[in-house]
Amino acid sequence: MSETEAVHEPSEPAQQLTTSGESDERVREEWTEYDFDGSAKLAVEDLDVHYGDEQALQSVSLDVPEESVTALIGPSGCGKSTFLRCLNRMNDRVKSARIDGSVRLDGEEIYTDGVNLVELRKRIGMVFQEPNPFPKSIRDNISYGPRKHGDLDTGLLARLLGRDDREDEDELVERALRRAALWDEVKDRLDDNALGLSGGQQQRLCIARCLAVDPEVILMDEPASALDPIATAKIEDLIEELAEDYTVVVVTHNMQQAARISDQTAVFLTGGELVEYGDTDRIFENPESQRVEDYITGKFG
Ligand SMILES: Nc1ncnc2c1ncn2[C@@H]1O[C@H](COP(=O)(O)OP(=O)(O)O)[C@@H](O)[C@H]1O
Ligand SMILES: [Mg+2]
Repeated sequence: MSETEAVHEPSEPAQQLTTSGESDERVREEWTEYDFDGSAKLAVEDLDVHYGDEQALQSVSLDVPEESVTALIGPSGCGKSTFLRCLNRMNDRVKSARIDGSVRLDGEEIYTDGVNLVELRKRIGMVFQEPNPFPKSIRDNISYGPRKHGDLDTGLLARLLGRDDREDEDELVERALRRAALWDEVKDRLDDNALGLSGGQQQRLCIARCLAVDPEVILMDEPASALDPIATAKIEDLIEELAEDYTVVVVTHNMQQAARISDQTAVFLTGGELVEYGDTDRIFENPESQRVEDYITGKFG
């Protein structure tokens, strides 16, 4: 609409869309209320995050159903990574961050004193954008976590008692690598350095490393954005498979990817606002918010 065509009604100001999708649209509560069967694995309520004086998330409330894929989409800087990091208290590590609100895991508040953060991050694992394997063997990348958590006992006592822990370790490594659809590609070179793997293999190794400590929730922050299309397709297939046993929350800026792999989608927009949340097909086919429609049809972002 050009300036001359614009009709300005005093009671209904014309919406001024900018390239970042700012508008005077008000989010309606029902746009973010999502009714689903089964229980919420994670229940987020009134989550506010500030970095210094800058607000990165504004009163976000969202329930994540268990054993499914929840996609978080929205333009760069809208708070997706911040939100994801709040779910296992990784944002506690950011000095300037102030977090208010509530996150419950299976009904238990995680933002309360006395929560064991090591245990929490074992239950809620994380996979990052850039594959970040340790510069160690493929085997050690997998067994590092279980060993640290004491799930793999390779101590002196076990050896004195004649327990062959290598056998347990082999089983655990194979199970995690199979679950991450990587076993067939690496089974003959488990003692090779993980950094020699391709990017896609490294990312599946990071997923296997996360699975090795037996998590319940897996958080993924743009896990395929550094990968080529074939490696991306493998990660997408894997995410869908993992949702049979785990609760997966995945940030992606790729809307086709969100539409392909997720059961429900949360759309964040500028200012750290959750604008719409619901069944993925519904969000993409029939969004309530004009800004969400503009975003998913590529008008900005
Ligand atoms: N560690 C940090 N320190 C200060 N500001 C941050 C930090 N991380 C993110 N931000 C700011 O918070 C806002 C949301 O960022 P982020 O959560 O990374 O968004 P997204 O993942 O959607 O791109 C941005 O304005 C960003 O600059
Ligand atoms: Mg991000």
